[in-house]
Amino acid sequence: MKRFAGKVSVITGAGSGIGRALAVDLAKRGARLALSDVDLVSVAETAALCEKKGADVRHYQLDVADRAAVLANADAVVAEFGAVNLVINNAGVALLAPVAEMTWEDLEWVMNVDYWGVVHGTKAFLPHLIASGDGHLVNISSVFGLVGVPTQSAYNSAKFAVRGFTEALRQEMLIEGRRVGVTCVHPGGIRTNIVRNARADGGVTSEEVRGWFDRIALTTPERAASVILRGVERNRPRILVGPDAYVFDAMPRLLGPFYQRVAVQGIKLASRFGMKLGPY
Ligand SMILES: NC(=O)c1ccc[n+]([C@@H]2O[C@H](COP(=O)([O-])OP(=O)(O)OC[C@H]3O[C@@H](n4cnc5c(N)ncnc54)[C@H](O)[C@@H]3O)[C@@H](O)[C@H]2O)c1
Repeated sequence: MKRFAGKVSVITGAGSGIGRALAVDLAKRGARLALSDVDLVSVAETAALCEKKGADVRHYQLDVADRAAVLANADAVVAEFGAVNLVINNAGVALLAPVAEMTWEDLEWVMNVDYWGVVHGTKAFLPHLIASGDGHLVNISSVFGLVGVPTQSAYNSAKFAVRGFTEALRQEMLIEGRRVGVTCVHPGGIRTNIVRNARADGGVTSEEVRGWFDRIALTTPERAASVILRGVERNRPRILVGPDAYVFDAMPRLLGPFYQRVAVQGIKLASRFGMKLGPY
C-alpha cells in the first residue's frame, strides 16, 4: 500500500494510545476510517478528532474478544464503506502476574483480547482485504513477542502467538499470490494508558510499575503511528517501534537462550533503582 488517501482503514482499540494516534495520522492522510473500541466514549472522542481533520469516519463499540461481534462488525463496515483496504488489529490489555499467582480468569482475559482478538479481526476481515485487490493487515504484537519477561507470561504467550500467526499468514499470502501485505509490529515502551489499565495478581500492584513506565517509555504514540505507517507503505514484514525495541530484538538473536540470564541480571539491577517488576 503506497498511499492511504481514500483507503478504508479499520482500527481496533482506537479509543486510546497507539490506536488513537494511528487514526488521527490516517485521517490527516485522507483515509476513510472505521474505528472501534470496547469503550464507546473514548472511540467517539477519537472519531471527533479525525472528523476535525476532514476524514470520513464511523465508530463502533466492539469487544474484540467476542467472535460473533467482530464478524458482525466486518459485515457492518463493508456495508457502510463498500470495501476494506487496511486492518490494524491494535486493541490490547496487559497483566502483571507471576505464573504461580496468576488467576485463570486474568490469563484468559489477556489471551481472549490480545490473541483471540487479533485472530478474530484477521479472519473476519481477510476475505475483504483479499477482495480489495490492495489490502494490508497489521497485527500489533510487542517486544514481549520477542523475549520472555518475568510477570509477563500471559502477555508473552499472546504476543508470541500473534507473531507466529502473522508471520505464517504473510507467507500464505505470498505463496497464494494475494495482493495483501501482512505486517507484525513490535513496539517497545510507548507512553499510553496500557499500564494504567493493566490488571495485576499475586500482591503485585500495577501502580508501582506505572510510576516508572511513564518515565522509561521512550516513544510517543504519535511517533509510533508514523513508524508503523511508514512500514506499511514499504510492506515490511516486521516493524520495530522505538530504540528499545531494537535492543529487545537483538538480545535473543545475539545471545540465544542466554538472553534470559542477562535479563535476570538486568531486572535485579533495575529493582535496586526502584524499577520493580512486581515482586522482582
Ligand atoms: N504501550 C506500550 O508500551 C506497548 C508496547 C508494546 C505493545 N503494545 C500494544 O499496543 C496495542 C495498543 O496499546 P496502547 O499502548 O495504545 O494501550 P491503551 O491502553 O492506551 O489502548 C488500548 C485500547 O484498547 C482498548 N481495548 C481494551 N480491551 C479491548 C477489547 N476487549 N476490545 C476492544 N478494545 C479494547 C482500550 O479500551 C484502549 O482504548 C496493544 O495491543 C498493546 O499490547 C503497547
